[in-house]
Amino acid sequence: MRFRGLATLPLLAAAGAGPVAGQPTETVAADFERSGLELVLRSNGGDATDARVARLAALYVAKGEPPSPFLDPGSFEATFRGAIELDLNDSFHFAVRGNGGVRLSIGGQVVLEHDALPGGGTPAATADEVRLSKGLNPIELVYSSPARGDSWVRLTWGNDYLPEEPVPPASLRHGVSTALDRGRSRRAARDLVAGDAVSLARVVPAEYAERRIRRDGCLVCHSRDGAPASGPPAPDAGPTHAPPDLTWAGEKFRGDWLADYLAGHPADLPRPHPGVQTPASRGETDLFAVGLHHQHGLAASPPDPEPVDAELAAVGSDLIRGDRLGCHACHALGDEPALGGEGAEEAINFDLVRRRLRRPFFDWFLRDPQRILPGTKMPQFVDEDGYTALYDVFDGEAARQFEAIWHYLGTID
Ligand code: HEC
Ligand code: HEC
Repeated sequence: MRFRGLATLPLLAAAGAGPVAGQPTETVAADFERSGLELVLRSNGGDATDARVARLAALYVAKGEPPSPFLDPGSFEATFRGAIELDLNDSFHFAVRGNGGVRLSIGGQVVLEHDALPGGGTPAATADEVRLSKGLNPIELVYSSPARGDSWVRLTWGNDYLPEEPVPPASLRHGVSTALDRGRSRRAARDLVAGDAVSLARVVPAEYAERRIRRDGCLVCHSRDGAPASGPPAPDAGPTHAPPDLTWAGEKFRGDWLADYLAGHPADLPRPHPGVQTPASRGETDLFAVGLHHQHGLAASPPDPEPVDAELAAVGSDLIRGDRLGCHACHALGDEPALGGEGAEEAINFDLVRRRLRRPFFDWFLRDPQRILPGTKMPQFVDEDGYTALYDVFDGEAARQFEAIWHYLGTID
């Protein structure tokens, strides 16, 4: 699809491409076909700029680390620019979480502006739903990092029938720009000189993860961000071994589990990963996993899963039984095999879930499994208003029932 809304581009610039206006980043309007957004980074108090592609409108830069291999550590400004592409007209609430300041413009209009986000993960949200048109809707998110501490930002959307989620990479588009071209050639030149010996100290995890994904051929077998796998299906691919879509891997898996899995560590494997060239050292596998989180604006996973509340766990243990929500039909409970539901052979043993998943993903996935893993056999238990069919527990509130199940999961050996 070609970018047709040319008239909106000057508008967008006028609405204040803001502090980075004047930088050589104008989009060439004829070409908005690439997925993800253009991300221009500029150090505060210096003239250094750099640009790369961001899969999502999100970033995470740990304290003391540089936002780009070509900028020094310290406060910076990040501008995400491109378009949201839709198949149909629709309206959404947008919300931004993070620390520091943001200005979000959509279709050339500023819809959200905060000098200082509330912090602690509390969202700043648009007052009303923003109407988007079928086709391409220009978007610009300008983020200013705080003076100290970790810097992070994350853009989500949602509406009456779509539970809040990060604006999906498959809906984001950007064009070519001189800034991106320059960023690309700088990286190519650096890689040529350094090869694999790029000092890890100067490596930005989000970029490192992307390089590994491409270099290790992950996308030959796995679909991601709306793009199908580039290779043919593996010859022995049966129903239980289809490579899952990787779009949300950075939200889904705990970094420690993912690092183990990719390193081929035998512990905790539901099924072993097919042998592929994976990062060599444990330090690199860890960096890979952290980089995937950072691409989504998430911190590295906390070292230990949260403690179990015994009372809630007892409620959860009741909820998952065959005559209640019925999770046990498909999911094994440690040594207790699944009772045998459709798709049981693809379901993960419940004893692994807390070691694999990040808690927010667990809650999000259960609200709408199909949306997050299209084609999955995992059923949806929640209606649009957030209730399950079991009204006798917590008045049917799905969020509280799932919390109880989460605690129960921590008790299975
Ligand atoms: C040769 C094809 C192939 C390549 C290349 C490949 N994978 Fe996979 N991957 C698979 C298959 C098949 C599965 C499903 C394994 C299973 O659970 O049976 C899988 C599963 C996964 C899972 C899912 C885990 C789960 O339990 O839900 C992750 C994460 C993953 N791969 C990441 C990667 C990454 C990252 C790369 C690149 C370093 C990669 N894969 C390269 C085929 C591949
Ligand atoms: C009809 C079979 C079925 C039932 C019933 C079912 N699941 Fe699942 N579930 C699956 C399958 C299949 C998957 C694997 C999804 C995938 O990767 O495509 C899954 C995946 C999951 C995951 C992700 C696990 C991971 O580590 O990747 C969680 C969490 C989960 N289910 C929780 C539940 C809960 C809680 C219930 C009961 C409220 C439940 N499931 C009921 C089939 C089922």
